[in-house]
Amino acid sequence: MNKFFITTAIDYPNGSPHIGHAYEKVLADVIARYRRLCGDEVFFLTGVDQHGQKMQQTADLEGLNVATLATRNTRRFVSLWEKLGVHYDGWAATTDDLHKKCVQKILTTLHDEGQLYKKAYKGFYSVRQEQYLTEKDRGEDGGFGEEWGEVIELEEENWYFRLSEHAEWLKTAVTNGSLGILPEFRRAEVLNAIERASETDLCISRPKDRLHWGIELPFDPNFVTYVWFDALINYISFAGYRSEEGSSLPDFDTLWPANAHIIGKDILVPAHAIYWPCMLRAMGFTENQMPMLLVHGWWNIRKKSGGTDGGSEEKMSKSLGNVVDPSELAERFGVDAVRYYLVRDIVTGKDSAFDPERLISLFNSELANDLGNLLNRSINMTKRFIGGELSQTSYDDQACEEVRSSLAETIKSYRSAMDAYDLPGALKAINSHVVRCNQFIEKNPPFELRKDESQSERVATILYHLCESCLHLSVLLSPFLPDAATKIRGQLRAEQSFSGRLDDLSWGILQGGHQTGKAKPVFPRIVLEEDQN
Ligand code: ME8
Ligand code: MG
Repeated sequence: MNKFFITTAIDYPNGSPHIGHAYEKVLADVIARYRRLCGDEVFFLTGVDQHGQKMQQTADLEGLNVATLATRNTRRFVSLWEKLGVHYDGWAATTDDLHKKCVQKILTTLHDEGQLYKKAYKGFYSVRQEQYLTEKDRGEDGGFGEEWGEVIELEEENWYFRLSEHAEWLKTAVTNGSLGILPEFRRAEVLNAIERASETDLCISRPKDRLHWGIELPFDPNFVTYVWFDALINYISFAGYRSEEGSSLPDFDTLWPANAHIIGKDILVPAHAIYWPCMLRAMGFTENQMPMLLVHGWWNIRKKSGGTDGGSEEKMSKSLGNVVDPSELAERFGVDAVRYYLVRDIVTGKDSAFDPERLISLFNSELANDLGNLLNRSINMTKRFIGGELSQTSYDDQACEEVRSSLAETIKSYRSAMDAYDLPGALKAINSHVVRCNQFIEKNPPFELRKDESQSERVATILYHLCESCLHLSVLLSPFLPDAATKIRGQLRAEQSFSGRLDDLSWGILQGGHQTGKAKPVFPRIVLEEDQN
């Protein structure tokens, strides 16, 4: 059995989860469910990045204890994943004791091996990015740009990781593909960034008098660990790396390397493509033990057209007050509509503009109209015209043959799209068969044909093709909309008919004599209140 280890970025719980967070987790959930369907043994890890200055600042602003803030906000993430049906196998919360111990073990080893050193620093620091700035970070006007937020001047001693020593190696690993990066066009961005890494080491500590909310350095208790150095380690600490005897964590050697680290484009450079592989190498990981980075794009918010700039896009940020609450969306439009929209309307790797009207129109056209109608008609007609009992007759014709080959084609394109992380492509493949089946009904209408008794075998065959198609479609849809897929199979009374392995999805799963159930709308149309008047 193949293993498939999939992770997402761990979210900062300094506020509530937004649509970008939701997208990433749904994307990972769909891929994890798909790999399971392929028969892989999947371990899906996600969690929260609870340390760091952002957390401390937010807590100070809200007048809360930072641990209280972390716990309260972490709950919002956990309950959203529950609501959206995001099923993970491991939960990486960085305040977890087992994670702290693992980070400290790693730090101790690196320190003992002389891979860390202490040095005084005087200069500028970006509070927002939690990063020291160099002359190179200045913009054309000589100042530090808006992206750095508040910039302060400070002088302090800190601990450094000899990042620059790995720069040459990293260049090779990125060039020869040992460090996987998808989509391919992101590789150039990483190669550019390596130049910079070769010149500066990575500061991995923060003095406690400035930041107390972090993991203490085991060899220098006046410091806590820099939040990125702590956070990146979640990918291995929660996968069992250097775990205690008898721990309930997975067996690290079978899991590692990760088949997919799913992250947004903003945290590719420098964190995931520079710091992380170099950290791994310093810990003794070899070139063929590097993870694969799957880098997704950005959801932007379309400005409500109030003036002349209608339709322009702006970056989503809390300060703009335009964050869309995924939990509210799910309550208003349903979980299926939200999951479907999030992975249907963004090309993996590219950006997209969030648009609730698109969410509604995609749901209403592809799910309520196309698929919903197909399911309803197929199951209803089977019930009414042949008493819900399927039969495999000897009747065949070109139209039926076309349905079978359309389905085979759909499964093929679905699989290759899914294997390439092209989720919209997979959904379009599903929809193409749905549309084909609806046309098949129009051209071979069982409600007309049944009036002629000599056509009874043909009618039975048409209905068999429709029900069998619906079953296959439910399987293909299951990684995306697991609950809907279950409902469909329930109405077909085919819960036990399919093995659960995509390899077994071939024509003829439903047996002659199979009794289907009752149709009930799985995708009720979304009607907005304002449309009802
Ligand atoms: O970066 N569209 O946390 P985070 C799409 N804790 N994706 C988005 C997005 C948007 N508008 N906004 C954010 C962190 N994301 C760190 C990660 S990993 C060891 C530590 C994505 O809460 C973002 O790219 O700011 C990242 O992958 C994830 O959401 C968490 O972002
Ligand atoms: Mg961020």
